[in-house]
Amino acid sequence: MGLLVKGGEVVTASARYTADVYAENETITRIDKNIDASQLPPGTEVIDASGKYVFPGFIDPHTHIYLPFMGTYAKDSYTSGSKAAILGGTTTFIDFCIPGKSEQPLAAFETWNKQSEGSSACDYTYHLAVTRYDEEVEAQTREIVGKGVGSFKIFLAYKGAFGIDDGELYNTLKLAKQLGVITTAHCENETLVTEMSQRLFDEGKVEPEWHYHSRPPLVEAEGTNHLMTFAEVHDAHVYVVHLSCEEALANARRAKHRGVNAWVETLIQFLLLDMTYAERDGFEAAKFVMSPPLRDKRNQDVLWAGVKHGLISTVATDHAPFDYGDQKPMGKDDFRKIPNGIPALEERVKLLYSEGVAKGRLDLHRFVDSASTQAAKIFGLFPRKGTIQLGADADLVIWDPKRQTTISQKQQTMNVDYSAFEGWKVTGYPEVVTVRGAVAARDGKFVGTVGRGRFLQREPTHF
Ligand code: URP
Ligand code: ZN
Ligand code: ZN
Repeated sequence: MGLLVKGGEVVTASARYTADVYAENETITRIDKNIDASQLPPGTEVIDASGKYVFPGFIDPHTHIYLPFMGTYAKDSYTSGSKAAILGGTTTFIDFCIPGKSEQPLAAFETWNKQSEGSSACDYTYHLAVTRYDEEVEAQTREIVGKGVGSFKIFLAYKGAFGIDDGELYNTLKLAKQLGVITTAHCENETLVTEMSQRLFDEGKVEPEWHYHSRPPLVEAEGTNHLMTFAEVHDAHVYVVHLSCEEALANARRAKHRGVNAWVETLIQFLLLDMTYAERDGFEAAKFVMSPPLRDKRNQDVLWAGVKHGLISTVATDHAPFDYGDQKPMGKDDFRKIPNGIPALEERVKLLYSEGVAKGRLDLHRFVDSASTQAAKIFGLFPRKGTIQLGADADLVIWDPKRQTTISQKQQTMNVDYSAFEGWKVTGYPEVVTVRGAVAARDGKFVGTVGRGRFLQREPTHF
């Protein structure tokens, strides 16, 4: 069935114009000033978008939908996570396939596929984590890249869990360079985190607020610089995930200036929440424990400027939902055991628009670029995703720039018992969201099809 979006203002990363957009067989086949609906095949769905923006479907390049982590599991499934994504205007997300330390990559790949296949309402793909390096891991990693996984993930944190040592880092980036794969990296020095956490614990500093002090900005700055040095040695392409502070950004900028092929992601949480949230009274602070931690407010202006000027390419969520009721309390007497993560998949786009565009910090094009187009370009999805043009998938977001709503856990679809943005008032709303030409959300209601989401195969593009 066809889909005609009439009279909206199409906004991409580089263009803005009023036009009708027509999609047939899941892709955009016509963009024109005035497409006559009566000339289209019977059954074509017509959506009036006058007075609205028409954005390309948003892409979250960093989510954890299925995640065995710190002795528990992130709460969403591909069904709840994809519905939440769509309701918030995100039509593609990139999850992480993370083999356990002694698990083979192909076994992990199968596990993730079992979770995702037939369960997602929107398209998705994975970054493949390299959590150890030996001949067998290398062979299987090559095989998984051949199956369409065009990006790696490494953790320079989480010692003894997912973290890799310098030899493994060296070999992973060497392989990535050979295969033309970009490597995304969690940059915190794992030894410093482990030692500083132990010291705090031994001093009786066990409450959630001490999490911050176990990994201050210099720990992230070191991790970032560490990655850049190894990337430079191999001329490998790297992407710093969830960058949170000025010190780390300065190291990434310096590396970029000397020619390292590096990209930077920040999170909506770091742009809007600061460390005072993670210092709230009692155990409430645990809702805001993630790594890297929420930072001093002064960093927010630096991050907004980084997004505005493109030093920071993408704004993601690192969506990692753990219940406040019975998962965060695993670290009641030891901050080191609080499952790390702050959910935001459903709210990222609204918050970025409201706090970014509506408050004059970002223009519309950088908003689309940082929340959609850059992720598609960096991760081998462009122009199928991330823009509105002939031949692109008809993932469209018809956006009401004036509608105001209030964020509340009670209304969310993310499967988690709190919202980090409870009570925040936002301007701008994804009134209609389409996934490959079919309406999947309308006026805040999910009307899509679970299982219609596809795994997106991606070719390596980082040679
Ligand atoms: O605290 C975080 N970021 N949790 C999810 C895992 C990760 O490090 O990305
Ligand atoms: Zn991380
Ligand atoms: Zn993450």
